[in-house]
Amino acid sequence: MARAAVILAAGQGTRMKSLKAKVMHTVAGLPILGHVIAAARGAGVERIVVVVAPGAVEVEGFALRHGAETVVQDKQLGTGHAAGCARSVLGDFDGTVIVTYGDHPLVTSHTFEASFAAQALVGMAIVAFHSKSTAYGRVITREGGLLDRIVEYRDANDGERKIELCNAGILAADARKFFRWAGELKNSNSQKEYYLTDIPSIADSEGINCAVVTVDEAETMGVNSRAELATAEAAMQARLRQRALAAGVGMLAPETVFLSHDTVLEADVQIGPYVVFAPGVVVRSGAEIKAFSHLEGATVERGALVGPYARLRPGATIGEDAHIGNFVEVKNANVEKGAKANHLTYLGDARVGAGANIGAGTITCNYDGFDKHHTDIGAGAFIGSNAALVAPVKIADGVYVGAGSVITKEISKDSLAVTRAEQKEISGWAEKFRSRKRAEKAAKKK
Ligand code: UD1
Ligand code: CA
Repeated sequence: MARAAVILAAGQGTRMKSLKAKVMHTVAGLPILGHVIAAARGAGVERIVVVVAPGAVEVEGFALRHGAETVVQDKQLGTGHAAGCARSVLGDFDGTVIVTYGDHPLVTSHTFEASFAAQALVGMAIVAFHSKSTAYGRVITREGGLLDRIVEYRDANDGERKIELCNAGILAADARKFFRWAGELKNSNSQKEYYLTDIPSIADSEGINCAVVTVDEAETMGVNSRAELATAEAAMQARLRQRALAAGVGMLAPETVFLSHDTVLEADVQIGPYVVFAPGVVVRSGAEIKAFSHLEGATVERGALVGPYARLRPGATIGEDAHIGNFVEVKNANVEKGAKANHLTYLGDARVGAGANIGAGTITCNYDGFDKHHTDIGAGAFIGSNAALVAPVKIADGVYVGAGSVITKEISKDSLAVTRAEQKEISGWAEKFRSRKRAEKAAKKK
């Protein structure tokens, strides 16, 4: 059966106290909505429709860039109404539709898979979890475990409120039937809203049963406030760390390592304490990232050593067995195989050839206040400490640059370039100076 998903994201999210739409806040470097879209994709969903509020251009743009379609819910008339809005694009979809919330970053493909599978067997499926929280609708089952009905907590009686099986808000049904039922929803409840949770009862009146798929409460967590966003982040970090450890990544203190949704760490990568991976990082097998380093948009090849206290910015590639040491910043630069920049250096918009050695304090002066320029350092070059390489500039293979030099012109292969003033020595000058000063002080005291 073909699969589609409707993701509800038209809520205001006022409790976030943010100008940004709730589903655009990030967890592990990806907007919450992105996690839901990825989970749906992972479950083989071919069409994804995101229901957005009027004027939510940022959400719309994100959804479109991630291959989803969007529909606008003009007025917030409830979850059932919101899902029904997708009828305009999915009304004649020949397959199964899953309805889910856009603010549940921890939902997994596995849960969507299980829901599709249960729907295929029974006719319809919802997802439930165990909780005592009064925030959730109660799931009332029949003998044999099929769903009888869902009652919102505020609409439930005392007996129903004691039930600890809660509605996660995920529902799978035949798409055409679903949109027909959505059109039949009534808003006769305490909130005068069209509830998604009333769909199973309508289906039941047509003799269609509904299975109940149970999952961990952690997975169904919704984000409504900054505090819940932080809780979701912590849960996602725990999940990503476990995944990395299971894949053979060594971590001395995993609880101090922060990962992004897309961080790629191969087996036998070693990560020290307090390392942050912003989005877009790949680290190949055998590389080591030492403590207190920050990486973003960077690739670290096999056997390379990075840190402690290193910063890799977007476009940094650290070649095989290369070394990037403490207080070294690399941006949009290719540090080739075996090259070393071990201390206090800035390499921006540059190539550092294989085996080159960059002395402490070396800076590529890449910016003139208007444009960025490239520095090219050849293989095996030796750049003395505290050199300033004023880009655009080209340093050929095997060159030596004297410490403290300011390099503004191309240097040809195997040459030495030094730009500092020549050293002078005045013999005996220091002792003469001291005797004169001592004499002056003695004269003043008298
Ligand atoms: C809903 C469920 C409840 C379940 C709980 C799980 C209903 C009636 N209740 O309650 O059984 O236990 O979620 O978290 O479905 N939305 C729209 N348009 C609307 C209304 C809501 O897009 O008109 C979106 C919101 O952005 C949100 C989601 O739907 O992402 C859920 O809406 P919300 O009002 O938070 O539902 P709950 O009251 O929490
Ligand atoms: Ca909610």
